[in-house]
Amino acid sequence: LKQGNGVKGLSEIGLKNLPKQYVQPLEEIISEDKIMPQAIPIIDMSELDGPAAEESVCRAAEKWGFFQIINHGVPIEVLENVKEATHRFFRLPAEEKRKYLKEFSPSNNVRFGTSFSPEVEKALEWKDYVSLFYVSEDEASALWPSVCRDQVLDYMRRSETVIRRLLDVLMKNLKVTETDGTKESLLMGSKRINLNYYPICPKPELTVGIGRHSDVSTLTVLLQDGVGGLYVRGDDDYWIHVPPVDGSLVINVGDALQIMSNGRYKSVEHCVMTDGSKNRISIPIFINPRPSDKISPLREVLASGEKAVYKEVLYSDYVKHFFRKAHNGKKTVDFAK
Ligand code: SIN
Ligand code: FE2
Repeated sequence: LKQGNGVKGLSEIGLKNLPKQYVQPLEEIISEDKIMPQAIPIIDMSELDGPAAEESVCRAAEKWGFFQIINHGVPIEVLENVKEATHRFFRLPAEEKRKYLKEFSPSNNVRFGTSFSPEVEKALEWKDYVSLFYVSEDEASALWPSVCRDQVLDYMRRSETVIRRLLDVLMKNLKVTETDGTKESLLMGSKRINLNYYPICPKPELTVGIGRHSDVSTLTVLLQDGVGGLYVRGDDDYWIHVPPVDGSLVINVGDALQIMSNGRYKSVEHCVMTDGSKNRISIPIFINPRPSDKISPLREVLASGEKAVYKEVLYSDYVKHFFRKAHNGKKTVDFAK
């Protein structure tokens, strides 16, 4: 892996068996009998000027924590271009990708890696990724890999309008009305984008692409290709598949928004299973508070006398806590209790 070719390199030598570091405990694997024949809502954003669609967004965020949006205003070719750019990055020779490994990367804001927190995981995840923390267009131009930089930046720029729109609707429902820039910083003060690559796996029934976790973001906007494999926790021990829908974006609530809404909007556990015959890519944009922000249930949410379920935490401490542990379900949010 240190050669810079990641799990993709392992996949491409045509292994018949899964190296034992990747074998996950049985309870991490989603088998057919744990899948609910249900679907998360698909919301048509072109109808979002009416109260019915606003209602659907808020109800979905409260009940499922996940929904898909269509007619969201991000042009299809922007989505296709960023998917192609992602494949281009992972097709780079190992020497090129290697430059972005933790020990060689020119910046902490650009990181190529494999698995999640390999130092603390008991079993590794079958995934490679490059993670890009957005500081400015100038920094991105200087430091992000040039094979994908322009398409990634374009995608981030073009998705901004729909993200703002969703946050506005979700805030209005909480009676939060913006008066200064504070809320904007809290809700969307920083951004990170990951390009994920899940190579063909020789034994999909033994491992995971990403283990169970909830996101630490305010909102996550996920672009996935046509392969499928993302599962969201439904009732009890059952899981719901998020089927690829052409041209759609998957939206989910993260822990920061769950905390700010005092638990009203749900940050729901999810995971990714691997595929035995297809390589899969996904591209999440994480909309986050700034690292220096303190997050807690919003004043407007508590105005009616509701008791705060979460205490105030410094966002950078919250994120540090998340990365210090292996993916192990929805535990991080307890840090704010
Ligand atoms: C993630 O949960 O971070 C990625 C989900 C996906 O690849 O579908
Ligand atoms: Fe996630």
